[in-house]
Amino acid sequence: MPKTRSQDPFRHVSQKTAQAKAKPAAKAGARVAGPRVERGVVVRKPKPRKQNRKKAGRGYTAATADKYELYQKAVQAPELDIAFLRRVFRTTRGREALHFREDFCGTALLSATWLEAGKPGATAEGFDLDPEPIAWGLAHHFHDLGPKAAGFTAHLRDVREPGTRAYDVRVAQNFSHFTLTTRREMLEYFEKARESLARDGLFVLDLYGGSDATEEMDDTTKFRGFTYVWEQAHFSPGTGEYVNHITFRFPDGTALERIFSYRWRMWYLTELVDLLEEAGFKKVERYFEGWNARGTAGDGIFRKGLRGENCVSWIAYLVAAK
Ligand SMILES: C[S@@+](CC[C@H](N)C(=O)[O-])C[C@H]1O[C@@H](n2cnc3c(N)ncnc32)[C@H](O)[C@@H]1O
Repeated sequence: MPKTRSQDPFRHVSQKTAQAKAKPAAKAGARVAGPRVERGVVVRKPKPRKQNRKKAGRGYTAATADKYELYQKAVQAPELDIAFLRRVFRTTRGREALHFREDFCGTALLSATWLEAGKPGATAEGFDLDPEPIAWGLAHHFHDLGPKAAGFTAHLRDVREPGTRAYDVRVAQNFSHFTLTTRREMLEYFEKARESLARDGLFVLDLYGGSDATEEMDDTTKFRGFTYVWEQAHFSPGTGEYVNHITFRFPDGTALERIFSYRWRMWYLTELVDLLEEAGFKKVERYFEGWNARGTAGDGIFRKGLRGENCVSWIAYLVAAK
């Protein structure tokens, strides 16, 4: 019998969040060069920290909650993601990675974490079509980085557009590449990704599957001050069309209903491996997540393996080498 874990791939990531370390604060009053930003992005100052703390203590409501803050708390674990990427690059390439590209970057939290963890001279470029999350990320993630913040460039562009340098590591995270729904689009994206890499660069995608992945159902997780709902609303087996939503509910009965929605194609792992190879990648390795000690949930640790395990819900990385 297959083991069971949450059908919500995002929730798995949230379990890792608890292990992530808090970021150190920047020195007060320090003046440093900031990130580079393309036109079209309006950056607003975040609310003062005091106000945020008070809000968190009281519990959120739909009127006061910030959807990006809750999204990060519920589904992202940037320290663990970046530690995995740096480790895989170091062990397969025998050197430290310096230049990073984050496709579908949203608030660019991974880019900020990459710069924070990296040596001086590290760079990160974020690509997203939507100016709103980029602006939010610029206002919230880069202040505490000091001079390292100047290593970031935000591009308000499609992920198939070129960037400014040869990347050591390029990523598409939280299944965002599922937004490309035809074989031709995905192949074009992979070809462009390969071209953009340094000679020993790696392109890394995450993905999930298992029988639960295509069930139409809700998965609910409680966090301090709010409840996170992952809704698998629709799946068409004939086309692969796959519609999901995120809702946040609050103790006072209010909610941010379907505040994030995703219209994806459900791609299968082997389809993506075939396309990566067709795009010219020399080698594509799979890393599957392991189980916690009780065998009830993922442990957040990804190990190289070819076959994977036929469980109802699995998560993996594909690591494609140029
Ligand atoms: C689910 S969010 C991902 C946020 C973040 N990367 C994460 O790990 O949670 C998907 C993002 O992809 C962006 N997006 C969708 N299609 C895109 C495309 N073709 N090129 C660039 N960005 C795109 C959306 O604007 C959205 O901000």
